[in-house]
Amino acid sequence: MTFSKSNATLAALASTALLFAGCSASRSFPTPTPTEDGGLVPPEDGSSPGVDLGDVPPPVDAGGDPYATPTVCSSGTNWTGGTRRSASMEPGMACITCHARSRGAPRFDVAGTVYATAHEPDACNGTNASGAVVIITDANGAEYRLPPNAVGNFSARGTGMVMPYTARVESTAGVRAMLAPQTNGDCNACHTLAGTSSAPGRIMLP
Ligand code: HEC
Ligand code: HEC
Repeated sequence: MTFSKSNATLAALASTALLFAGCSASRSFPTPTPTEDGGLVPPEDGSSPGVDLGDVPPPVDAGGDPYATPTVCSSGTNWTGGTRRSASMEPGMACITCHARSRGAPRFDVAGTVYATAHEPDACNGTNASGAVVIITDANGAEYRLPPNAVGNFSARGTGMVMPYTARVESTAGVRAMLAPQTNGDCNACHTLAGTSSAPGRIMLP
């Protein structure tokens, strides 16, 4: 086999290393040497790094991870009104972060956007399909039911809810629950296109 430093090969090497690290097989491989740029070079004895790509299993079936969806704007429509006053403004964006620095903008306890799939761009309109409702459970066990509007936006203010909270989305199709308690009510700050702070992506319909 010819050794190439393509990303696919590196990914294959990495997954192979993980596979063999986790099994007790006594086969051993010459270890590729990391280079300063993070790449790998073949061992100095001139042998191949010992990875036969034909043996590398295919990637884990994407069907097993509901968040392995392509980047797409499912609604096919976007908010184009900038910061024009509207409950349908700026879907996908961090509502509370912007409102905190905007004169005249309401101070929400929680706010965010529900999408049909996991990786949708900012300003793409979300959804309230299947009777979706966002349910917040605060630190005292009080529940707040927030129905998203036609573009998936939801918000609540003046509730007196006590942090931290957990959240779930329920619809006729089922439920998705956030088990990790949060203290920041700005859902879209974490539930971005790609997801930040360990969030898997957008708040997605069940
Ligand atoms: C980039 C900044 C920005 C972002 C992001 C943003 N807003 Fe706003 N929002 C504003 C400003 C500024 C106002 C006040 C506009 C005015 O008074 O003319 C406002 C006002 C509002 C209002 C009041 C409307 C009314 O009729 O009283 C609602 C509701 C609202 N925003 C919801 C949201 C939601 C939900 C999100 C997130 C999905 C969001 N906003 C994201 C800047 C933002
Ligand atoms: C500080 C980051 C952060 C904020 C803010 C946040 N989340 Fe999450 N969310 C996460 C992380 C991390 C996960 C994955 C772990 C888990 O499910 O607890 C998650 C998972 C979820 C899930 C479950 C996804 C699934 O199917 O497994 C839902 C639903 C959800 N969040 C809704 C919300 C809502 C609604 C808000 C705002 C009221 C919110 N989140 C605010 C980080 C955040």
